[in-house]
Amino acid sequence: MEKIVIQGGTSLMGSLEISGSKNASLPILAAMLLCEGKTTVANLPHLQDVTTSLELLGSLGVELSIDENRYVEADTRTIHSLTTPSELVRKMRASILVLGPMLSRFGEAKVSFPGGCAIGSRPVDLHIAGMESLGAEIVIEDGFIKASRRERLRGATINLPFPSVGATENIIMAASLAEGTTRINNSALEPEIIDLVDCLNAWGANIRGAGKSTIVIEGVQKMNGGFFRVMSDRIETATFLAAAAATGGKIRTRNVDPTNISAVLEKLRKAGGDLTLGADWIELDMRGKRPKAVDFKTGPYPDFPTDMQAQFTVVNSLAIGTAYITETIFENRLMQVQELRRMGAKIALNDNEAVVTGVSKLTGTRVMASDLRASAALVIAGVAAEGETIIEEIHHVDRGYECFEEKLHQLGAKITRTSS
Ligand code: UD1
Repeated sequence: MEKIVIQGGTSLMGSLEISGSKNASLPILAAMLLCEGKTTVANLPHLQDVTTSLELLGSLGVELSIDENRYVEADTRTIHSLTTPSELVRKMRASILVLGPMLSRFGEAKVSFPGGCAIGSRPVDLHIAGMESLGAEIVIEDGFIKASRRERLRGATINLPFPSVGATENIIMAASLAEGTTRINNSALEPEIIDLVDCLNAWGANIRGAGKSTIVIEGVQKMNGGFFRVMSDRIETATFLAAAAATGGKIRTRNVDPTNISAVLEKLRKAGGDLTLGADWIELDMRGKRPKAVDFKTGPYPDFPTDMQAQFTVVNSLAIGTAYITETIFENRLMQVQELRRMGAKIALNDNEAVVTGVSKLTGTRVMASDLRASAALVIAGVAAEGETIIEEIHHVDRGYECFEEKLHQLGAKITRTSS
C-alpha cells in the first residue's frame, strides 16, 4: 500500500503550472464516441480517472493513440462493443457519461451502475430520465442500465429538478445527434459544461447557451470530429491556493483562468490572502500570517464548489476565529473531519454542517485518505502541521491531481511517497 510521508511546518513558496481539467476531460473523452471522424484532444491531465476513461473507450474497441505531446487521438470506426466492463465503471462514476453518446450514435448502450468516491449515494436518475425524455427505452437489470432506441432520439424540453453537472453533460451529448431541438432548463452552469459545448461545437454539433440556465441543442445528422484543447483545472488551482493560505505562503498558479473560481478567491481574500490576478495566472500572498476564519456554504456553480470544501476546512482549521461550513451537494462529504481532528483540529459536526474553531497549529500523525478531495485536504494539513504526517490510502489523490507530490515539492514541501 502506498502512503505519503510529509515533514510539516513549511510555508509553500514559488510558482507552478496547472494541469488540464479532470472534470472537463472526462465528458470530452466520452464525447469522442459521437464522432465518425478522428478526434484529437490536447492538455489531458495524466490522472487515474483519465486512464480509466481511456481504458473504457479501448474496451469498446475505440482505437487510441498518444503522441509525444500527449495529444490523444481516437478513431471510433473500430468499435465492436456497446457494453462497458463493470470493473472500469465501478472505479469511476463519470463512466456513466458514455451512456448518452453510445445510445445516441449507435442505438444502444449497456452501462453498469457507476462507482467513484464514497461521498454519498449519488444516484443517476436524472441521467436516465433525460435519456427517456429523448425517446430511449431504459431497462435496469442485473446491475446494468440497458438503454436502446427504436429510431433516432428525438429532441425534447427537459426540466432538470437539480442542475446536475453529469446529467446536463450526458443529455447535451445524447441530444447532439438527436432529431430536432432539445432544451435543457435548469442546466448546470459549471465552466466544464462550457468547455464540453465548445468541444462538441468544434467537432460538428450545434449547441448554444452553455453557461446559462437554458441550453439549446439543435441535433445534427453526424459529427466529424477534429481537435480540442481541454481547459485548465480550476479545482487544482484552488487547491494549491488554499494550501498556500493554510501554510502562510506565497504562490503563483500559471496556465489558469482567474474568472472561473471567483467564489473561492473571494473566500481566500476574506481569509486574509493578498490576491493578484493576471491574464492567465493567480498569485496569493499570505505574508506568513495565519488565515482568518471564513464561513461558506457549497452550492452549484457559481457558488462555492463542493470539490473545495475539504481543502478549505483545513484553512479554517488553522485560522483565527470560528467558521461555519455547510455542505449542500453531497450528504457524506465531511469525512476528512475525523482525520483532521486526529491532527488537533477543533471541529464539531452536525449533519452537513461543520463548526471549525481554528487552532494555532496542527500536529502530524498517521491518517487515512477516504476520497479524492479529502486526500488533498490531508496533504495540505500535513504540509502545515508540526512534525511528521503519514497519509494512508493515498491512491485516491491520483484520481484527480497530476504529479501532486512533485508540484508540492517544487513549492518547498518535504513530501515523499513510499510503499510498504
Ligand atoms: C461532478 C463532478 C464532481 C463534483 C460534482 C458537483 C465530474 C466528473 N465530477 O460530479 O467533481 O463534485 O459535479 O459539482 O465532473 N444527483 C442525483 N441524480 C442524478 C445525478 C446527480 O440525485 O442523476 C445528485 C447527486 O447525488 C449529488 C448532486 O446531484 O448529490 C450533484 O451531482 P452532480 O452535479 O451530478 O455531480 P457529478 O456530475 O456526479
